[in-house]
Amino acid sequence: MEKGEVAPDNRLTDNSLVHSPQCVRSGAIFIIDKASLKKGLVRKTWKILNSDDDAQFLLKQKKNLNHYRPDIVHETLRAILDSPLNKAGMVAAIYVRTDEGLLFEVKPHVRIPRTCKRFCGVIMELLQKSSVRSKDTNEVLLRVLEKPVTRHLPENSHIVGLSYSSKKLVDIENYVSVMSDSVSPVYVVGAMVNGNVKDDYMHDYIAVSNYPLSARYSLGLICEALEQKWNIF
Ligand SMILES: C[S@@+](CC[C@H](N)C(=O)[O-])C[C@H]1O[C@@H](n2cnc3c(N)ncnc32)[C@H](O)[C@@H]1O
Repeated sequence: MEKGEVAPDNRLTDNSLVHSPQCVRSGAIFIIDKASLKKGLVRKTWKILNSDDDAQFLLKQKKNLNHYRPDIVHETLRAILDSPLNKAGMVAAIYVRTDEGLLFEVKPHVRIPRTCKRFCGVIMELLQKSSVRSKDTNEVLLRVLEKPVTRHLPENSHIVGLSYSSKKLVDIENYVSVMSDSVSPVYVVGAMVNGNVKDDYMHDYIAVSNYPLSARYSLGLICEALEQKWNIF
């Protein structure tokens, strides 16, 4: 794999090998919402803007630096992709919605670049071509989708939004363990600095801690709870 490339991760297990109840069919779905992935022309080169390297450029244009944080999306995606849950083949789909309204899909078996800079290179390619393919197999690994995200979810989805501001504080292990395996669990986590994920298309809206957490940490709690439930070690 060359710099800035994505490739399928061949080390992932087929989910038929995972010990799981008969009725678990498809695994969990994740939606990363309000992701800040905005392109800009800096010194004659198009790039995904970030609040570290492009601070001067953004401040000159009176932009809020909090709205330029591709690193949050990168680390949140890695929390899912690198989890035992995903390696066991129990992540069915990952969708990202940007704060500018773009919707795209990240195949759960993709191996994204380890550094944010190279990840941003992949996202630039996605914005320019609407899809990113594996150089070796030509398989589509990231692609832009038609909105809304709900049209891509299974009919039996149970959509759960996560927010610190939710009044419903749950013990996440217990919450996940009692959810029926006849529904496809969908978890929505925000990749923004401030604000909440919208709860208008959700079946439930929960807080997983009394404290404000990062998106990465919140997702980690969900992945670990699902791993416990489905005996993935
Ligand atoms: C940095 S927070 C954004 C702050 C935002 N006020 C909030 O918690 O909704 C990023 C994401 O992490 C998740 N999150 C943070 N703290 C949480 C908590 N205590 N319970 C549930 N989700 C949380 C939410 O999905 C949130 O959108």
